[in-house]
Amino acid sequence: MPSDSNTSTETGTSGAQALSGPRHVAIIMDGNGRWAQARGRPRLFGHHAGARRVREVVSCCPQLGVKYLTIFAFSTENWKRTQVEVSGLMSLFRRYISKEMKALAARNVRVRFIGDRLRLDDKLVQLMDDLELETAQNDGTHLTIALNYGGRDEVARATRRLAQDVADGSLLPQDVDEETLPRYLDTHVLPDPDLVIRTSGEARISNFLLWQSAYAEYEFIDTLWPDFTAEELGRLCRRFGGRDRRFGAVAT
Ligand code: IPE
Ligand code: IPE
Ligand code: MG
Repeated sequence: MPSDSNTSTETGTSGAQALSGPRHVAIIMDGNGRWAQARGRPRLFGHHAGARRVREVVSCCPQLGVKYLTIFAFSTENWKRTQVEVSGLMSLFRRYISKEMKALAARNVRVRFIGDRLRLDDKLVQLMDDLELETAQNDGTHLTIALNYGGRDEVARATRRLAQDVADGSLLPQDVDEETLPRYLDTHVLPDPDLVIRTSGEARISNFLLWQSAYAEYEFIDTLWPDFTAEELGRLCRRFGGRDRRFGAVAT
C-alpha cells in the first residue's frame, strides 16, 4: 500500500444525477500569456495577474457549495518554456505561498499539492510542506494545487509503487482493480472532480487529472484566466446543476 494511504478515498461517481452544484471543481487556469500579450507586457505579467485571481476564486467557494477546488498551476510539460518564464514562475510560486500562507490558514482553507516534487527546488518544496502542515487541521475549502503535475506522470508513478507492492507480496495481482489503483494516485484522499473548467478557449485537457475526470462535466470557456471572476464560477456551477449525469445508466 502507499505509505500515506491511511485516509479514506471518496468516490465522485456514485450519484445518479446532479441535483445541485459541483462539490469538486477543477480548473485549468490558461491564458495568462495571451492576456499579457494583449497588453503589450511580458508573459510573467500575466502569470502575476493570474495568481491574484486565485484568491477571489478560493474565497467564493463556500457560498457556492464547492468543498474541493483543484487548480492546475504548472504541468510536467511546462518545463519546455524558456528559462526566464520557468524560473519566473517558480519564484512566483515561492512568493505566492509565503504571502498567502496566513490568509489561507485564517480562512480555514486546507491546502494540498499534487504532482512530482522531485524536480522542484528545495526551497519551494519546503514552502509547500509548510503550507500543507500549517493548514492540515482546516476543514473548510480543500484547495489542491497541481504543481509539476501531469496525469500520465501521476499514473506512471502510481503504477511503479503498485508494482513494488506486488513485488513485495503485500498486493496480489488479482486484487488490482478500479478501487485499488486510485489509492496510489496523488489525489487518493480527494473525491473525483465533478466539474472541470478550462479558460482561454482551448478545448483540451493537457494531461490534467486523466484518471479522475473520467466522468467529470467539462466547461471550455473563452475568458482568459486573469479575467475569470467569482461571478463566472457561480454561473458555471449553476449550469452544472442542470446537467443530467447518467454515469452510463439510463435517465429515470
Ligand atoms: C497558463 O497560462 C499558466 C501556465 C501554463 C503556467 P499560459 O502561460 O499557458 O497562457 P497562454 O496559453 O500562453 O495564453
Ligand atoms: C495547461 O496549460 C497547464 C496549466 C494551465 C498549468 P498549457 O498552456 O500548458 O497547455 P497547452 O500547451 O495549451 O496544451
Ligand atoms: Mg496556455
